[in-house]
Amino acid sequence: MSEFVSLLSPAGDRHFDGLADKFASSLYVGARGELRLALLDRLLPEMLDLEGQPLLDVGGGLGQLTSWFSARGHAVTLAEPSGEMLARAREQLAGREVSLLQASLQALPQLAPGPWPLIACHAVLEWLADPRGAMATLASLLAPGGQLSLMVFNRDALRLSNVVKGNLKKALADRLEGKGLRKRLTPISPLTHGQIETWSAENGLVIREVAGIRVFADYLRRPPESDVDRERLLALEHCYCRLDPHWRLGRYLLYTLERPTPSHEETST
Ligand SMILES: C[S@@+](CC[C@H](N)C(=O)[O-])C[C@H]1O[C@@H](n2cnc3c(N)ncnc32)[C@H](O)[C@@H]1O
Repeated sequence: MSEFVSLLSPAGDRHFDGLADKFASSLYVGARGELRLALLDRLLPEMLDLEGQPLLDVGGGLGQLTSWFSARGHAVTLAEPSGEMLARAREQLAGREVSLLQASLQALPQLAPGPWPLIACHAVLEWLADPRGAMATLASLLAPGGQLSLMVFNRDALRLSNVVKGNLKKALADRLEGKGLRKRLTPISPLTHGQIETWSAENGLVIREVAGIRVFADYLRRPPESDVDRERLLALEHCYCRLDPHWRLGRYLLYTLERPTPSHEETST
């Protein structure tokens, strides 16, 4: 395929058809992928009130998050627009009671309106042409009192990692986003904490928790070589991922957003 062929959907989003192998090997195999999963394993129970609620996993990809919630007793619906990713998820999730739905986030108000007590949308908004519109859609699917576990690729961390790698011209021009060409895995819409704050407020969502995922790991000169050092790195990441200033430079930002329950006065007027 030519380098210049765009692989974007008609809406301008990067569905992961043609990327499943690359995604699986770059994001989930190896130390960084393991670290991300190990941190989520610790942070999700700390950051969310989990009571076995039904969960909608938006852009669920290969199904790792669905698998995690399903193993903890949640009835999960995984929605994913890419047929290739969904087929992989079906294989990974064989034997588990989960519903799989081939659908984009934008189609969910018609196909899975809920309202849902718990929604996960991890590492998806940065692949969309209109992440702000997507936040409004996610908010509309959330029940009063419902929680949204949102994880986004952090634009500020992308700048730092470009500088650290010596890509000074690109960083100075602030040309950080990918273009959705070929099999590149640089997101087309990396996001800032400020955008999440603004868009949450626009949609009546409250930020309850925030953490940085991989606040140190991506900037190491030498990756840890022993199990003991890998454990130390995980302990450091966990210790500092919710503390200022470190969380702000996590490669991903992980949020718990909540739709508040209307107060008594609001419901009775
Ligand atoms: C980086 S992967 C993340 C997968 C999974 N959530 C995870 O954390 O491993 C991004 C996923 O978003 C999906 N995606 C792209 N555009 C989407 C859209 N408009 N609606 C829902 N999912 C979308 C892609 O097909 C891909 O599976």
